Amino acid sequence: LRVVIVKDYDEVGRRAAEFIAAAIRRKPDLVLGLATGSTPLGAYRELVRLRKEGLDFSRVKTFNLDEYFGIPHDHPQSYHRFMKENLFDHLNVKPENVSIPDGMAKDYREVCEEYERRINAAGGIDLQLLGIGRDGHIGFNEPGSSLASRTRLKTLTDQTLKDNSRFFGSEDAVPKLAVTMGVGTIMEAHRILLLASGPEKAQALKESLEGPVTSTITASVLQLHPLATFIVDEPAAAKLRWREYYLNVERLSREVGQEAGV
Ligand code: GLP
Repeated sequence: LRVVIVKDYDEVGRRAAEFIAAAIRRKPDLVLGLATGSTPLGAYRELVRLRKEGLDFSRVKTFNLDEYFGIPHDHPQSYHRFMKENLFDHLNVKPENVSIPDGMAKDYREVCEEYERRINAAGGIDLQLLGIGRDGHIGFNEPGSSLASRTRLKTLTDQTLKDNSRFFGSEDAVPKLAVTMGVGTIMEAHRILLLASGPEKAQALKESLEGPVTSTITASVLQLHPLATFIVDEPAAAKLRWREYYLNVERLSREVGQEAGV
């Protein structure tokens, strides 16, 4: 587990985009898992800039973590629309290489199973990008999600409805359900990159990194992942007991010219 503490939101975005770009340069047909929310937006802006400098996404395949249930793809707050406007409209990813769970399908069970099949058919996810909810969720795997769960329909907690009401205008307007990759699905990604920014994430981050592995903080399961990197800013890292140590690890890694602590 590698914890990279940087100054602020912008630096989280820059470092995350560099990380993703390096993975694409190493493997031009990268299978990239993507996330929504405000945290990855800075990284997406940077990726769009790198595209202008020639970074090629033409062979990249993408899989989004989740989508609200029951809102049309062109709804202003749908994750389909979010991804199109913030990323796909500005990159050369081929539309047939983009996968986002379909929250509008009548048979959601079939949608979930098909999503898992598609991931497998692509050879699995090489790099999965994640944010983190204030309750420590990844994707929409709310507290109590089985750590072995697969893509499925999930009920959102009051905390998540409250947090996401800022996008919908009111809490009542936020869909109560979402289709999300499961914790087990996420854990199968070869590499994980989790981003966190701001003081409101400090507690969740502390519990995820330094608390016990528990289904009540689903991000804590990443402690069991062999190649997980967290890029977090100072305010999000403020409550970490081992903050100084993580900073030292990074400093020393740079000095010896390699990544330690992975
Ligand atoms: C939603 C998404 C998560 C995201 C979380 C935090 O719940 N399903 O993938 O990590 O929001 O969002 P933000 O980055 O806006 O704080």
